[in-house]
Amino acid sequence: MAKFSSGKFGYSGAIFQLEGVSCRFGPVAALTDCSLAIAPGERVALIGPSGAGKSTLLSLLNGSQVPTTGRVAVMGQDIGRLKARKRRRIQRLVGTVYQQHHLVGNLAVVHNVNAGHLGRWSLPKALWSLVWPQAVPTAAQALAQVGIVDRLYARTDRLSGGQQQRVALARVLVQDPAAILADEPISSVDPERSRAMMDLLRQLNETTGKTLVISLHEVEFAFKYCDRIIGLRQGQILFDAPATQVSDAMLTNLYQL
Ligand SMILES: Nc1ncnc2c1ncn2[C@@H]1O[C@H](COP(=O)(O)OP(=O)(O)O)[C@@H](O)[C@H]1O
Ligand SMILES: [Mg+2]
Repeated sequence: MAKFSSGKFGYSGAIFQLEGVSCRFGPVAALTDCSLAIAPGERVALIGPSGAGKSTLLSLLNGSQVPTTGRVAVMGQDIGRLKARKRRRIQRLVGTVYQQHHLVGNLAVVHNVNAGHLGRWSLPKALWSLVWPQAVPTAAQALAQVGIVDRLYARTDRLSGGQQQRVALARVLVQDPAAILADEPISSVDPERSRAMMDLLRQLNETTGKTLVISLHEVEFAFKYCDRIIGLRQGQILFDAPATQVSDAMLTNLYQL
């Protein structure tokens, strides 16, 4: 495999690697014998029917789940074998945006963005920041990156749905992750807002080189925005191919009832 460099993170090689990974929840096999490698800077879509294992795969990549069998390496580190502290350090290099943004509505935007630092800040600093916001330039820069720098001190629940989604993304950006995972970021969102969000994610990928892994319900967006498409069905990787090589027949297979 070609070598890739992830620059300032001082690591070359796959940013994510799964080898023979299975993940069970009691009797349910959410993933079975999955292997893949994702290089720094790639833009990858995960598609497949509901229950196929997309969210489970993302939770393995960000270390919030460990596999039942097999190995998950993030930047070459076997997540399942790391001590808690080292695992958290690696986890901070992976930011995740969820469909539910988990923002605190009655706080100013700056506080919600600063929640991205919580893994790193001491408790006193985090509490003090609620009175006297810390790291304001960093928060402002993240908000500029997502196009809403003027909303720094707005109450979060006064923002539109689209703006709140941008705040959630800014919160991930202050973490300065090497990779951004997004779990169905545009489900139940109108087409215009979907396009705006996907444009933003692609632009971040292109300007910062951050790896993107996005689970998508909307296949046409996967083709438009991602270079590589992984099709999951019943916990298995049915295909993993460049977007240009995914055929209608492959999609029919993926979604057949
Ligand atoms: N925490 C969990 N406990 C029990 N079963 C789960 C859990 N998470 C996922 N599953 C099951 O694993 C399978 C894959 O789920 P998921 O990864 O959420 O699929 P997708 O995101 O593609 O819809 C489903 O059958 C789901 O019910
Ligand atoms: Mg899901």
